[in-house]
Order: sequence, then C-alpha cells, then structure tokens
Amino acid sequence: MSESLAVRDGVDESKRTWVAITCGAGAVAGIATAIPFVSTFAPSERAKAAGAPVEVDISDLKPGEKKTVEWRGQPVWIVRRTPEMIASLAKDEAELADPDSKRNQDDLTPSYARNRNRSIKPEVFIAVGICTHLGCSPSDRFSPGAQPSLPADWPGGFLCPCHGSTFDLAGRVFKNKPAPDNLRVPPHMYMADANKLVIGEDKA
Ligand code: FES
Repeated sequence: MSESLAVRDGVDESKRTWVAITCGAGAVAGIATAIPFVSTFAPSERAKAAGAPVEVDISDLKPGEKKTVEWRGQPVWIVRRTPEMIASLAKDEAELADPDSKRNQDDLTPSYARNRNRSIKPEVFIAVGICTHLGCSPSDRFSPGAQPSLPADWPGGFLCPCHGSTFDLAGRVFKNKPAPDNLRVPPHMYMADANKLVIGEDKA
C-alpha cells in the first residue's frame, strides 16, 4: 500500500484520526464533509475497542445506496451498485491509473476482488473510504454526467474534496490525480445468509 495512506491492516496507526485528518490547504472541505458523516456510524463498542471484524446486515441496502460502518477506526463503505453502475466500470478504464488493480495488491485488493468490479459480487462494492493521497474521506458522486469539479463524461464514483482525486464506482483512481492508488478493498466475506457480511476477515 502507498506509504501516504495513513492506515494499515494491523495495528491501527491512525486510530480515528481520519475524522480530523488535515489535508494541507484543502483540509477544510474534507473535514466539512467528514463531520456529518460520522454521525451515521453505528459500530459495536466492543468491536471498536477490540478492532475485531465487524458484522454488517445489508438487507436494507437498496440499489444505488451506500452504507458506512466503522472497522478499526476507519470508515468502510458498502455500495449496492445498480446494473448501470456496474456497466459504467467497463467504459472508463482508459482513464484509470490502475484499471486492473495490479498495484500493491496484497494491501489494496484481496485476491477475490481482483476483477473489474473489485468485489466478490458485482452488485456489492466494499472499500475503505480513505483517499490514498493524504487520507481525506472522498464524497459520493454517484450520478454520471457533468457537475461541479468533475468532467462532462463523469461515469459516477467518488471525489476527494481535499485535492481533487477521483475514483470510479469500483474505487479505481483516475489518471493524473494526486492519489497514487485505488481505494483499499478490506478483507471481507459473506456469511451463510447472503445479506450478512463480515468486514475484517475472510476465508483466504
Ligand atoms: S487527500 Fe489529497 S486528493 Fe484525497
């Protein structure tokens, strides 16, 4: 994983500091985005304290929606992609820095997510919501098309407000942006009930 990313899959080096991460001159926008976002967390206090895997029920997650949980002090996003969102991933690859997720695979992309969707199931995308540049939390920009700070051919994805890095709906970073790498896909797996996920543990 990039040395610039302030989190690691072991001891949490940046324990909850993502909330207050400063991103140089661009920090204000990032913090303004992150603060209301924290109130959506509903983590188990026990799991938070132990850094344990987190179980998540996604039965209420509708197509096009995102749910955020906390794991090891980091926001983890779960997005239920629509068929249109999935289709967009095949169209933007010429614009991506690492479309095949080959960089830092051991840290960023588990073997079961080394595919175009960067996921086990095409419709469910899971990523650590921390920019690989300096650690701000990107904002959702799911709607395709022209909009402020984004190009006219925007396919839908995420925009980091700190320095303008953009990521597609599989967390793949666009070329010529400050962020060096794709967003991290954390270890995860489905339970027997396909609507139940475990974040932080897999069967690998
Ligand atoms: S922290 Fe700089 S672009 Fe995201």
